Amino acid sequence: MFRSRMWPFLLLVINLKGADPRQLALQRGVDLGTAVDAQHLSESQYAAVLASQYSQVEPENEMKWRIIHPAPGVYSFAAGDAIVNFAVQHGMKVRGHTLTGDTQLPAWLSDPGLTPSGLQTILEEHITTVVKHYAGRVYAWDVLNEAYADDGTLLPGIWLNTPGIGVPGTGYMELALRWAHAADPAARLFYNDEDDTGLGITPKTDAIYRMAQDFLSRGVPLHGIGMQMHVTAGGVSIPGLVANIKRLTDLGLEVQITEMDVRLPVANLAGASAAELDSQAQVYHDVASACLQFPKCTAIQTWGFTDRYSWIPTAFPGFGDALPLDINYQPKPAWNSIADALASPSTASPANYYRISSGQFLNMGSRSTGAIAPGEMLYFAAPSGPGALVQGSPAAGKYPNSLAGMQVTFDGVPAPLIAAQNGFVIAVAPYEIAAHSSAAVQFDYLGNSSNPISLPVEPAVPGLFTATSTGAGAGLIFDRNFALVSASNPARAGDLIFLSITGEGVSQPAGVTGLSQPYRIFTPLEPLSVTIGGVPAAVAVVWSGPAGLPGMSQIGVYVPPGIPAGNAPVSVRLGGASTQAAVTVALR
Ligand code: XIL
Repeated sequence: MFRSRMWPFLLLVINLKGADPRQLALQRGVDLGTAVDAQHLSESQYAAVLASQYSQVEPENEMKWRIIHPAPGVYSFAAGDAIVNFAVQHGMKVRGHTLTGDTQLPAWLSDPGLTPSGLQTILEEHITTVVKHYAGRVYAWDVLNEAYADDGTLLPGIWLNTPGIGVPGTGYMELALRWAHAADPAARLFYNDEDDTGLGITPKTDAIYRMAQDFLSRGVPLHGIGMQMHVTAGGVSIPGLVANIKRLTDLGLEVQITEMDVRLPVANLAGASAAELDSQAQVYHDVASACLQFPKCTAIQTWGFTDRYSWIPTAFPGFGDALPLDINYQPKPAWNSIADALASPSTASPANYYRISSGQFLNMGSRSTGAIAPGEMLYFAAPSGPGALVQGSPAAGKYPNSLAGMQVTFDGVPAPLIAAQNGFVIAVAPYEIAAHSSAAVQFDYLGNSSNPISLPVEPAVPGLFTATSTGAGAGLIFDRNFALVSASNPARAGDLIFLSITGEGVSQPAGVTGLSQPYRIFTPLEPLSVTIGGVPAAVAVVWSGPAGLPGMSQIGVYVPPGIPAGNAPVSVRLGGASTQAAVTVALR
């Protein structure tokens, strides 16, 4: 009975995902991203288009120094948090932008009294604070932005030499990467830059290439190069772009198109000619196709999505109409051309069709990405799979390692599969990876193997399942009759309630990978504590629950007295890790 109650919740997750047009991009192994402006998130049309069409967002300004660190020692995370929360609610990934770079710095950083050693301390503290604040929620950072001039020399600036932080050349860049890596070892760290010719082979991209080569050879944590791609309709050399993406990905780096717009010479929002819109569409198509040729080109992101809101008319007076949707959110030829590129098999060799990248997985409970834990139930955006939904069911007590031709391995150990469909697979990380610091995850569908992706392993990555499967709001919490606790069935002080959780890690006695074992009672090895309404709640039992679904456990806790009626926050801590914020239980 519990099983039949459970499935609708899992299916809701599946249906929300399946309906998204952004799946087209995810099936090709890339994210479709856009810059967003926090102040527009409250506009329903803006929010609806964003959430339904894109899999990734990047704050246009909200994480820049000027906004996030406006005065010494003062951090202002509200606007950045609003974007991150929106993304988490809608299962989107977040790129952070930008930790260095010389534009849009607050005036206090230009204080002539600041010494290089003082500035070094400030930069380290800034990077550490901001990256830690968003750890686990921002999967990739532009650590470095626009450091090079067109001739390939380093641009003068406060981190380099005016006055600098006291280290020569690319030294400040190296330190910035090392600090960011220490603050969030799972985050992908990028160098991001622009070039009017679309970042082909130029003195500037040669210099970026040499910097990357040097950093990689010395183990400096650089994972990718962002190509801004603020271009004009005639400006881009596609062969040059392809050559540059090739040499960078050959180094093992990821490449992402991070800020694309194609500006047209029009008066503000007056509208371009059909011919201009077509030539713009061609550029979007060709850049997207160039990216799609490379398994390690992992995102196609535009700098905004609607001409209603674009930086172009202000930054480039006389230009506009630069984005794929018009001011009324209607598709322009550019929008259709990006879809064409994504749908076109012509650029998709089997090898690059079947690929995954590290960010495309979520904890099934929290819906957030980061590290993984043994026994955690995970949602992966899979590049291929069966046309219709296939659900795993236990045979001889064990969930299958193969579902309609789909297999997933973690360091070679086959994972139990819960469900699969073209576009995603829900798998449980085997307990066998417990002693590993990272695991190579690989997919196989009908004999076609994906590239392996390396994911960091932590002892526990707890996530609470929620009633709407969004990772936020009412928890998937049951009363002692296994009825859902909700506003119409609130719990009261002293009640025993069961929180649904994944990612609690290994236990005593140890769990067996894939085994369906209803009511298996265990103690997680990581120290466990629960709060409800901020008050510690006594734990009665931890068990696999009546469904015995691998990767989904239940914590039975007593609701503490004295908590006001209404929605009280619920939090579970296991060792050093906590469940996501914003999960509640209805109390009366
Ligand atoms: C731009 C924003 O879009 C504007 O709103 C702001 O006024 C200036 O900065 N390259 C970058 C981005 O890395 O941070 C810039 O964003 C656009 C160029």
